[in-house]
Amino acid sequence: MNIENPKSLIVIFGATGDLANRKLFPSIYRLFIGGKLSKHFGVIGVARRPKTNDEFRTNVKEALQEASIPVSDEAIIDEFCRHFFYHPFDVTNKDSYQSLNQLLSSLDEQFQVGGNRIFYLAMAPEFFGTIASKLKSEGLTDTAGWKRLVIEKPFGHNSPSAEELNEKIRDAFSEDEIYRIDHYLGKEMVQNIEVIRFANALFEPLWNNRYISNIQITSSETLGVGDRASYYEKSGALRDMVQNHMLQMVALLAMEPPSRLQTEEVRSEKVKVLRSLRRIHIDEVDDYFVRGQYDRGTINGKETIGYREENGTEPESNTETFVAGKLLIDNFRWAGVPFYIRTGKRMTVKSTKIVIEFKDMPMNLYFPAGEERRPNVLVIHIQPDEGITLHINAKSSGPSSGTIPIKMDYSNNSVNSMNTPEAYERLLYDCLRGDATNFTHWDEVALSWKFIDSISEAWAMRKANDFPNYAAGSMGPTQSDMLLEKDGFHWWPLDH
Ligand code: BG6
Repeated sequence: MNIENPKSLIVIFGATGDLANRKLFPSIYRLFIGGKLSKHFGVIGVARRPKTNDEFRTNVKEALQEASIPVSDEAIIDEFCRHFFYHPFDVTNKDSYQSLNQLLSSLDEQFQVGGNRIFYLAMAPEFFGTIASKLKSEGLTDTAGWKRLVIEKPFGHNSPSAEELNEKIRDAFSEDEIYRIDHYLGKEMVQNIEVIRFANALFEPLWNNRYISNIQITSSETLGVGDRASYYEKSGALRDMVQNHMLQMVALLAMEPPSRLQTEEVRSEKVKVLRSLRRIHIDEVDDYFVRGQYDRGTINGKETIGYREENGTEPESNTETFVAGKLLIDNFRWAGVPFYIRTGKRMTVKSTKIVIEFKDMPMNLYFPAGEERRPNVLVIHIQPDEGITLHINAKSSGPSSGTIPIKMDYSNNSVNSMNTPEAYERLLYDCLRGDATNFTHWDEVALSWKFIDSISEAWAMRKANDFPNYAAGSMGPTQSDMLLEKDGFHWWPLDH
């Protein structure tokens, strides 16, 4: 098999949904025009409502336009769309699977894909288990080529439900056939964390509790809950962002260098970090975690409503739209170094950044005790800017012995990329080539839920009496600042 131009059929369950339209169709198209898909591919859109192939292809074209993909040549788009087929489907009905199987067999012939099949579950999670079981029982996983299951989050809503789901899908697919998506792992600069750490002799020797005082990870959004209240009310920011994206970034920042850059090696180092995360007892949650919910406010000069006024939310909702937390990693490298995380909706800016704050010099001649410290700081800009900034001190010009702060900047957006590939494009390509490194292994999912469960249980038991507790357009509740202040730190501003 030519691994660079993989052949496969891709079945997308939930093909009329938001994810398929906004992310998957544009990503498949970019792979196609980028020459990364051979002509041997077919996409079968599966969803409940009836639709013809032509109608589906029109939807796909519209999705490309929505994604602002320049359509320079209609003929290319038409050629692309000829690979798309639609199959109306009832998740629980055997016949639906059997007719889908027939379609797969005939497209397998037509596009000569050698029996390779990707089943992409881009739909309501309550059906994940049923679909996986039926794919097996109705023979769709019985194929001459390879088969892979791509599964979106949420992967359960706590430890027991994740385990239950995992058992169901493991019955039909082996662990190495399961690709659990965490789209943060497809982001250019998240992938860059490993390179910055392990390809620079400058950083890696300092990457430990001797030299780093604390690490801060912020992922803030300006958008509110939008039309996702029915999902979000049950999830909240802790399950929506922390259990997956934030903990994945912690794992990448904290892991030991893998012995090789291979899937198993990288994953097992991440698993070790998650295993070393200090579990928070249900009674201690308030010492380590802060929750918030947005109120009315102003974002970019526009007035916005509070979370409890959004469509589909409860007037007394206890759902958190903001989380800040302090994580401790009990291992030799990180003992005593807090990893602070915060994420929320309706905050000041859309930004994801990692700040690594270094310790002071043992005796700092230029910043005597009692004066303002100016520690070295390394900032990894994940989005919307992509790059790194190193903050150092230098002498101010002239006769004084004063110092000035200096920023050394590398901007990935301007140097490296006309267009860095979208996370989904990269992840789909990885899946097509059978590279699971940037997908989450079950062990990572299981450990993340174990860490999260005591926090969510504590919050479910104790209603937040102060909700809503931050204005839209702010950086979250004041308790989030206090979380760092009590350790003698502060959140570095996002424009740092
Ligand atoms: C998703 C969450 O996983 O990540 C959303 O479900 C959130 O609530 C989104 O908005 C943030 O992703 P990004 O790539 O925009 O930072």
